[in-house]
Amino acid sequence: MPSNNRRKFRSAEWFGPTDKGGFIHRSWMKNQGFPNHLFDGRPVIGICNTWSEMTPCNAHFRAIADAVKRGVYEAGGFPLEFPVTSLGESMMRPTAMLFRNLASMDVEESIRANPVDGVILLVGCDKTTPAALMGAASCDLPTLAISGGPMLNGRFRGEQIGSGTNVWKFSEEVRSGAMPLCDFQEAESCMSRSAGHCMTMGTASTMASVVESLGIGLPSNAAIPAVDSRRYALAHMAGRRIVEMVHEDLRMSQILTRKAFENAVRVVGAIGGSTNAVVHLLAIAGRMGVDFKLDDWDKLGRGVPCLVNLMPSGKYLMEDFYYAGGVPAVIRELGDLIHRDALTVNGKTIGENTASAPCYNRDVIRPFDEPLVKQGGLAILRGNLCPDGAVIKPSAATPALMKHRGRAVVFETIEDLHTRIDDPNLEIDETSVMVLKNCGPRGYPGMAEVGNMPLPPKLLRRGVTDIVRISDARMSGTAYGTVVLHIAPEAAAGGSLALVENGDVIELDVEARRLNLEVSDEELSRRRANWQPPQSPYDRGYYKLYVDHVMQADKGADLDFLVGRSGVIVTRDSH
Ligand code: FES
Repeated sequence: MPSNNRRKFRSAEWFGPTDKGGFIHRSWMKNQGFPNHLFDGRPVIGICNTWSEMTPCNAHFRAIADAVKRGVYEAGGFPLEFPVTSLGESMMRPTAMLFRNLASMDVEESIRANPVDGVILLVGCDKTTPAALMGAASCDLPTLAISGGPMLNGRFRGEQIGSGTNVWKFSEEVRSGAMPLCDFQEAESCMSRSAGHCMTMGTASTMASVVESLGIGLPSNAAIPAVDSRRYALAHMAGRRIVEMVHEDLRMSQILTRKAFENAVRVVGAIGGSTNAVVHLLAIAGRMGVDFKLDDWDKLGRGVPCLVNLMPSGKYLMEDFYYAGGVPAVIRELGDLIHRDALTVNGKTIGENTASAPCYNRDVIRPFDEPLVKQGGLAILRGNLCPDGAVIKPSAATPALMKHRGRAVVFETIEDLHTRIDDPNLEIDETSVMVLKNCGPRGYPGMAEVGNMPLPPKLLRRGVTDIVRISDARMSGTAYGTVVLHIAPEAAAGGSLALVENGDVIELDVEARRLNLEVSDEELSRRRANWQPPQSPYDRGYYKLYVDHVMQADKGADLDFLVGRSGVIVTRDSH
């Protein structure tokens, strides 16, 4: 029961009363061996764990939770770990992204319904980070996120190989006949050789860097390898710190301000981060009520050079990034492009945290004036093909293709692509523009990572490594190429992407931020009159809820009724 000299926390509503309700809340918890004094009104820290053996990137999270608990106890808190829906990127069908919003609802309601005063989010694999941040943002308690850390660098026959990036590369080599299947299979265990998430600058590493640059994680959160003992020390310190945050009532809304989002956009540009960060940050901002729009990505990203030489834009991996100085060194290098007065979870500003951050390897983290790629920020395109926007990652694209006109080779669905891509009679050459429809939020459903379409073998055999590809899909953060993504409105929502036909001319001009279908308005109207929306194969359950309510990519693909926050007040008890 609470002692009188403490501020009364939310959890005291459960554990404080001497009546029947208090008895029930304490008594059942005591079946785990928790002694009386833990119910004395100290802060209860919920450790929201996305652990699962089917999310291999997060499979080590029970051990990280134990390190957090040590820190919480040390600081006088009461840690309670709880599981939430986990999203394994490499496992889930049709795509983990379909379930990001579902997991966020689980996080939100689990926090709100339980006696929690402060929250630790244990996040790692791609979608677990945005899902947890979105759900927690809608509650707005003191919250600190800890990323699980990347795997150690992959090594195959003396070469460094990176998660995802080398899968795409090797797979194309097998298809072109340059790599035997037995080598391909041997590379599997060489790529994933320790606990942790993808160790390229894919979506997981990007979102871990976002956690750090938003200030919702501790300095160095992003890059410490999952198996490095310092990852566990960081978790221990996070456990101590979240207890202080509860005492200070330092809530998420004081950290996730407009300035924090602006900082995150610039860091994503400087690290050559994943295009997936676009939809995730838009969705998190939507929950938080921060005015942050798709075009902010372009405005803020202009003039941000890509400094970090990591796959898929460069050649190193996250382990190298950590040894070189990690995100703090990048933030320091960005100088005035960063709002240095943005507050972070450790109570200091991001400027204070990074003022003397060292860089130990100038080939991994380049100086601002000698970047890896001059334009690191993501570009947002407009035009009659994407009136509500589309995204391209210039640092991963082929410079010669950034301004291009070509004839469309259209695939109506992902199945159509799979059926015809290896057909030697497919009419396509290196000047063509591959167009994939019906892979957006509603169309797939879930906006799968299929935008980096494989190239036809007949082009691969001729040494062609990239052509322009456009779709309403996303692409893996570990992928590369001149790939236009997130076209909004998507084809399944009646966007003009649905009207593209084989042979139409498409113009891409990244410098001018333009993507146009060179077909007259009259002809497009004629085609629109004949267009039928595709039937969703699912008419019940979460799939139906999702398809009925998902917003387009330019709004972060959140469910429309989840935007905003409800806080944590629940007036009714269960007894
Ligand atoms: Fe989990 Fe890449 S599959 S981070």
